[in-house]
Amino acid sequence: MPVTVLIGAQWGDEGKGRVADWLAEQSDAMARYAGGDNAGHTVRVGVRRFGLHLVPSGIIHPHLTCILGSGMVINPLRLVGEMDMLAGQNIDISPERIHISPRAHVITPAHTALDGASERALGEGSIGTTQRGIGPAYSAKAERTGILTGMMADPAAFVDAVREQIEQANRMLVRLYGLDPIEVDAPVDDYYAAAERLAPYLHNTTQIVHELLDADKRLLCEGAQGTLLDIDQGHYPFVTSSSATVGGALTGLGFGPHVIDRVVAVAKAYCTRVGNGPFPTELDDAMGQRLREVGSEYGTTTGRPRRCGWLDAIALRYAVKVNGVTDLVLTKLDVLSGLDTLHIATAYDTAQERVTSLPLDTATAESVTPVYEALPGWHTDISRVRRFKDLPANAQRYVERIEALVGAPVSVVSVGPEREQAIVR
Ligand code: GDP
Ligand code: IMO
Ligand code: MG
Repeated sequence: MPVTVLIGAQWGDEGKGRVADWLAEQSDAMARYAGGDNAGHTVRVGVRRFGLHLVPSGIIHPHLTCILGSGMVINPLRLVGEMDMLAGQNIDISPERIHISPRAHVITPAHTALDGASERALGEGSIGTTQRGIGPAYSAKAERTGILTGMMADPAAFVDAVREQIEQANRMLVRLYGLDPIEVDAPVDDYYAAAERLAPYLHNTTQIVHELLDADKRLLCEGAQGTLLDIDQGHYPFVTSSSATVGGALTGLGFGPHVIDRVVAVAKAYCTRVGNGPFPTELDDAMGQRLREVGSEYGTTTGRPRRCGWLDAIALRYAVKVNGVTDLVLTKLDVLSGLDTLHIATAYDTAQERVTSLPLDTATAESVTPVYEALPGWHTDISRVRRFKDLPANAQRYVERIEALVGAPVSVVSVGPEREQAIVR
């Protein structure tokens, strides 16, 4: 069966981009199915570093067809900027290999302004969004007032809709939030130019996916965000506004579950989170700071410092179950080198009892105290190791303990950001 779905198993930024880059070699096409430019996926190839937000990470492999699916929300200006960046790196961005669904939704300046205004109004209780307009764009989609990417085929009608949406947002910004209105004319001109540029890329992506599958081509669905940021499976409201989990691939691209033969979950060897919300194993101390510095844990999209903590086996087991994970890729094991003792959360203490499954209630998840299992660390540099048996014994034990705790095999361990810094088991 030809489909692999790649998902984030934690709170995003697990290293999906670099894993997609490996899996690209075994794929004919790669599709993004959800989210927008809130995603920031990094691929490093030697001295070249690509930060991708909308285009599937496989774009840097010349043989791949790239699809932006119906489940996405797309900011046309950002997409044009990203395509220009890729073209500047001599990557083929022709409409023969990039296909944009006409049924994705457009992010306009109305959405980004409303995202910022609502976050500011929430103050201390804010979600900590990327302020890319994701929530307002998906709200408009659910309200059935959104603008479809397909409208870009007629740039004049498209910008009329954009203008109307900005004017409506301005009434809200002024009356509801007491803010100044945003500019209308300049963005409308920019959106006109972007529509002209992107119109040739609008294709029936659902049909393209079906044709690929009928021809037994291999499709890789590149998830964005992570399981605990999924609108249904994460801790609401500290989530994104889309289905980041495996189900999002089915609805966002339009195929049935029988064609999926692999669900690869990417997890860091520890945990990070950007933005607010429950994070039981967060370390607010020197160890958290050490993980942040050694792991360079600063957001690809917003540059914000990421919150860091120990690996949470309860949250990871939850992701394995929610997505039907067939195998795990464990990234950033190298970041843990040099520590005497490592900790993995195996249970939580709530006010009432000890639990070993993830509380769905957000307030409970905020208040739990993790119960840790301690494991001995290792002190050698593992970034050049390429065979599992060459890892220090304690590093092997750490990986094997994770497998036992979360109930899925670790098929790849990554020990550095470069393409070849991987141990395939
Ligand atoms: P994504 O959003 O899941 O694609 O992940 P990001 O690209 O936002 O963040 C992952 C970061 O970790 C990137 O800067 C990667 O280059 C880096 N990275 C990925 N795997 C490894 C690894 O095994 N070791 C180290 N040290 N860095 C890694
Ligand atoms: P990738 O694909 C990490 C987080 C934000 C915020 C919450 C809602 O790179 O893993 P949004 O802007 O989506 O409304 O913000 O979700 N968030 C991410 N965190 N990686 C991401 O993407 C994220 N996309 C959104 O920080 O907490
Ligand atoms: Mg990221």
